[in-house]
Amino acid sequence: MRLSDCYKTADFRTLAQRRLPAPLFNYIDGGADDEVTLERNTSAFDRCDLVPNVLAGVDDIDLQTKVLGQTLQLPLFFSPTAMQRLFHHEGEHAIATAAKAFGTMYGLSTIGTRSIEELGTFTDSPKMFQIYIHNDAALTSDLLARCKAAKFDALALTVDTIVAGNRERDYHSGMTTPPKLTTRSLLSFATHPTWTLNYLLREKFDLPNVSRYVKQGSSIASSVVDYLNQQMKLSINWDDAAKLIEEWAGPFAVKGVMSVDDAKRCVDIGATAIIISNHGGRQLDGSRSPFDQLPAIADAVGGKIELIVDGGIRRGTHVLKALAAGATACSGGRFYLYALAAAGSDGVTRAISLIRDELIRDMRLMGCANTAEINPSMLAWR
Ligand code: LAC
Repeated sequence: MRLSDCYKTADFRTLAQRRLPAPLFNYIDGGADDEVTLERNTSAFDRCDLVPNVLAGVDDIDLQTKVLGQTLQLPLFFSPTAMQRLFHHEGEHAIATAAKAFGTMYGLSTIGTRSIEELGTFTDSPKMFQIYIHNDAALTSDLLARCKAAKFDALALTVDTIVAGNRERDYHSGMTTPPKLTTRSLLSFATHPTWTLNYLLREKFDLPNVSRYVKQGSSIASSVVDYLNQQMKLSINWDDAAKLIEEWAGPFAVKGVMSVDDAKRCVDIGATAIIISNHGGRQLDGSRSPFDQLPAIADAVGGKIELIVDGGIRRGTHVLKALAAGATACSGGRFYLYALAAAGSDGVTRAISLIRDELIRDMRLMGCANTAEINPSMLAWR
């Protein structure tokens, strides 16, 4: 299979599986516990059907979407994900380049492999930084100040990862960061020489946003799970979030909100947006999917706060269904991570361009000229 054979997220996933050593593929692909929530995040979109309107006289299609103070040319943006350079040596640059080319937003992770400062100068298109509240309050404040200085447009506070989820695939594969050549993983690295040579010969692996503060950033072969469990403040609460909103004083999203009550509290503390998310099924298995939870949240707080649906999006029609059910915009991780692993920048460009084409084609078929015209009457629930 080649990149030109990839037409949907599942195809990029197949290619990624061939290109990546098993521990890395499974880190991207896997979820928590029995992966029930991981699977449901996508299958939830099949609980309803799109109902098109015909003869709508639609000429040009406008996908423009306003979210977090930004005007995007797509209703879908790149969720922050960790360690992108581990999946392809172009890493964050490949994603940020595609975001700029397609007029959408790039999300940099605290556990990214490029620094806030470097991304700040690398791209002038919309940028979000994903932040955690660390045990060390000075570290959190410093990250925030660095984002301001580097002119990041929005901040997303992750609230669903105070402890790492139980990723059983990672235990089986021996996934550590940086990857270690354990006996279990040795065969997999040896049979993926392109990846392994790139990893060994290109720029040294680092987590530059945090390596200046904590040793896990560079010198110790520690898993992401260990990093989260050691560095995150376990007892984060609404006051912490409210303080961060005040300190940032700009577009702010709370990422990982699932309950209606929490959505209301996000309105009360002055967040710009909530990212309805269960962390891609990687945290609390058995939890509800973002799409299933969207109608109740839209009923309670729609119009008072922006609603971003994150999780399970593999197709343009998933985005259309989310918009019809009340989402302001959507975001996703795996849809571009598979493509990154499959073919770097070319892969990500192809993946996002296929989804954009699907959105344009299906908006036409739905009889919608712009995203504002997509509404709940276009969904029938089974
Ligand atoms: C994960 C964290 C690091 O899901 O976001 O692996």
